[in-house]
Amino acid sequence: MKNYSNTDKVLLKPVIRNRLETSETKMLCRRNVERLKMIFHRWPSYSLRPWPRSIRKLLSIGLFVVVIVVIILSYQLKIMGSSHRKVNPPQPAISCRFDHSHKSLVKPKNYNSRDSKHVSKRVLVLVESPYTALAKHIITILEAARIEYKIENTGRNLPTLTHFDKSKFGVIILENLEAYVNMDNWNRQLLDKYCRDYKVGMVLFVHSVDEYGIDREKVPGFPLILRYNMALKDYTLNLFSDMWRITRPGEIWEGTLPQDDWTVFEFNHSTYEPLAYAKAAPPPFLDAGYEVDNRTLVSVLQDRGTFDGIQKVFFGNGLKFWLHIPVLLDVLSYLSHGKLSLPLERYIQIDVDDIFVGITGTRMTPVDVEAMVQAQERLQRQVQGFKFNLGFSGWFYEHGNSLENEGDRKILEQRHKFWWFGHMWRHEQAHKFTQDHLERSMLLNYQFAKDHDIPIYQQYAVAPHHSGVYPVHEPLYQSWKNVWDIRVTSTEEYPRLYPAWRRRGFIHKGIMVLPRQTCGLFTHTLFLDKYPGGRQHLDDSIQGGELFQTFLFNPINIYMTHLGNYANDRLALYTFESVIKFVQCWTNLQLKQVPPLELGIKYFEMFPEERDPLWQNPCLYKRHLAIWSTNKSCDRLPKFLVIGPQKTGTTALYTFLSLHPAILSNYNSPDTFEEVQFFNGNNYYKGIDWYMEFFPIPPNATSDFLFEKSATYFDNELVPMRAHGLIPKAKLICILIHPAKRAYSWYQHIRSHNDPTALNYTFLEVVTADDSAPRKLKDLKNRCLLPGIYVQHLSRWLDYFPARQLFIIDGEWLKSHPVAVMHNVQRFLHIEPHYNYSQLIRFDPKKGFYCQILSEDKNKCLGRGKGRLYPNMNKEVTDYLRQYYRKHNVALSKFLKKNQYRIPDWLEEELSH
Ligand code: A3P
Repeated sequence: MKNYSNTDKVLLKPVIRNRLETSETKMLCRRNVERLKMIFHRWPSYSLRPWPRSIRKLLSIGLFVVVIVVIILSYQLKIMGSSHRKVNPPQPAISCRFDHSHKSLVKPKNYNSRDSKHVSKRVLVLVESPYTALAKHIITILEAARIEYKIENTGRNLPTLTHFDKSKFGVIILENLEAYVNMDNWNRQLLDKYCRDYKVGMVLFVHSVDEYGIDREKVPGFPLILRYNMALKDYTLNLFSDMWRITRPGEIWEGTLPQDDWTVFEFNHSTYEPLAYAKAAPPPFLDAGYEVDNRTLVSVLQDRGTFDGIQKVFFGNGLKFWLHIPVLLDVLSYLSHGKLSLPLERYIQIDVDDIFVGITGTRMTPVDVEAMVQAQERLQRQVQGFKFNLGFSGWFYEHGNSLENEGDRKILEQRHKFWWFGHMWRHEQAHKFTQDHLERSMLLNYQFAKDHDIPIYQQYAVAPHHSGVYPVHEPLYQSWKNVWDIRVTSTEEYPRLYPAWRRRGFIHKGIMVLPRQTCGLFTHTLFLDKYPGGRQHLDDSIQGGELFQTFLFNPINIYMTHLGNYANDRLALYTFESVIKFVQCWTNLQLKQVPPLELGIKYFEMFPEERDPLWQNPCLYKRHLAIWSTNKSCDRLPKFLVIGPQKTGTTALYTFLSLHPAILSNYNSPDTFEEVQFFNGNNYYKGIDWYMEFFPIPPNATSDFLFEKSATYFDNELVPMRAHGLIPKAKLICILIHPAKRAYSWYQHIRSHNDPTALNYTFLEVVTADDSAPRKLKDLKNRCLLPGIYVQHLSRWLDYFPARQLFIIDGEWLKSHPVAVMHNVQRFLHIEPHYNYSQLIRFDPKKGFYCQILSEDKNKCLGRGKGRLYPNMNKEVTDYLRQYYRKHNVALSKFLKKNQYRIPDWLEEELSH
């Protein structure tokens, strides 16, 4: 190893220095360990060896206990030392200037008009690049507000703006005014005409110009002047505008605004009305001739459309200034004639993870309990029906010092003032335990609640560290139901912790899982002056930042806090009283609280599309893996799927694949004709534990290939999305035969299962049934014909999976040349060893198909249901179906070419007619 001098070390890059220091430390440690080893080596030989073995053992145990006690004590002392309880914890310092007595002026608007009936709920976002900070910010806001959007580059042609004469977009957002002004004539005229004809408004962001000397410019074609590169201060909204719905005008945001490249607007036309004003702030580097401009400057401007027939709103800066975010929400609502409006009600719930779990020195004392009760009373005046929601694990009750134990008793004295929810007895992480253990633990806690008369009737629970909620640990759901009759819970982990604005809910086994928001308080945030990033960081989050925005975007907000946040500096009280005050100063949001069960019902009434979960692979996300049972393994998920469609030879392929020693198929399901059929239908709601039970534990997870075949997957609308959610890397195999043949095979299949409709009608009658036909006949027609519109289904698969993950087999080849097909399948899967299937299968003249070779003169063929004997389709029905499928087959051929798949022979032949 190179020797470095001390000066060398100072000059070294920090990374290398670090590495060096670590290696030096390691060496030092190693040396010390060696020394210690020597001492211990000698010591027993001199001092202990003469003593009897049992005494030596006792002494060692004693020594071990002493060391542990010392460690615990020093940890406690450290905590106690760091806890500097304040006589006066920080108080929220937010007050509204505007007394809101002029209620009529600030009443939130509702823009719902007759026009809104025809307005689309989608927004078109035209950007210079989807990667600019502003473009990303716009998208984040739309996603957080659950507004559908389409993003397009301004440089390209506009997307189709109408569909069957209906407008496709409710509002157009242009990331840059300049791109709009400089749009080529054709696109500009098209866009303007569309906006005029369909009363679609525009939002335009104006960027400052970098060129030296240009500080003022006229917008070509508009009576509007832009003044660039302004530093602004003291922001306020136009009290008399009729734009305001969520945003409440009347306050002044004092001080200098972020960034010094604001654009302000000057105009002389009645079409314009200011939405926001500010004053010029002195620029950061003053030159000698600087004169203070005391005029009011307009920073957000509304164009009522009397000049060119198009309603617009111009933002003189991006969205970095927090107030522009609620303003943008109101603008979207206004321009969409009320269609893109978030509700004004905000339901909130503040959970205390566990009111008894906390290290001595950080727990609540009686005065903290008093403060909590008083804060709750104050909050009740601002949030209708507010109560803190306290979680408890009885084992930790009275586990603090004497004052803190008094605090625990005080909480129980006041118990009827709060809502309560039960945890496990010792706050265990559910994913580590069986249902039996979980139920016993919950029952102990249940008994604790009974003994102390704790009111537990909210049917709500949360799990420590989200463990067991998502990824789902079935025993937790079952135990919750059995012991507490839980109906609602919440988590930050679905679908993932980040990005926070994409958190969503789902329902599993009758338990509503609601998304939970983060308020910035955790078990370690106890003191304001030690808040990570400093007090300013928390205050920024409250005053327009992250925490404020959770109120803004989410109609339902559940927050998690911890015992320590109510003791010490009582940061939870500081945070929530501040943010609620801030929300009331700056918005018209009406804050409320309802019991958790009602909250859950409300949530899924608002967002019914979220009821179904979308299962993901827990192994693809570290956080999920950490709270997933170690007994479970992602090795029990398939590496490829045979997706169908039905009657194309899927059973033959399944059988041939299973002959390969490195390929392991699913266990048969007794319910669904051996197939698992997980991703379609109700099995999906049984969860991934249920699914994984269908697969063996592969002896060699890297080289073995688990797979399953469910021919119903191919044409089911939900399957591609669900399969991608759980096994995004999986390969897919489908088989295509002529769709008419497939339809006929299906008809014969269900006839042989004595389906009365198939028995009563000829195939021709089935496929030509019209709208007036009996429902059962129409259903059968659909089941015969629709899976054969291959292009529609394949496109859906490729919406989720890349084309290279899908292999398409020509079903006719599978019948006639299965050895060659199996060769290609193995190559596609990259499977080892590569098998020569001519040694495994051969043609069986009696069956008329290829079968498995059992011995020299014995084959094992598929059962009677596969490769049935039935008359050929007659000419009339063949011609009819050829015509029926023609356009779909043409589209299929184009689709296959575009995605570089081989065109099956039957399709080539079909299209040559
Ligand atoms: P028919 O019974 O109409 O002839 P699936 O397994 O997807 O339900 O498909 C059944 C079809 O597979 C049969 O339809 C048959 O034509 C076809 N097939 C392909 N190879 C086969 C094989 N080796 N043995 C039996 N049937 C096979």
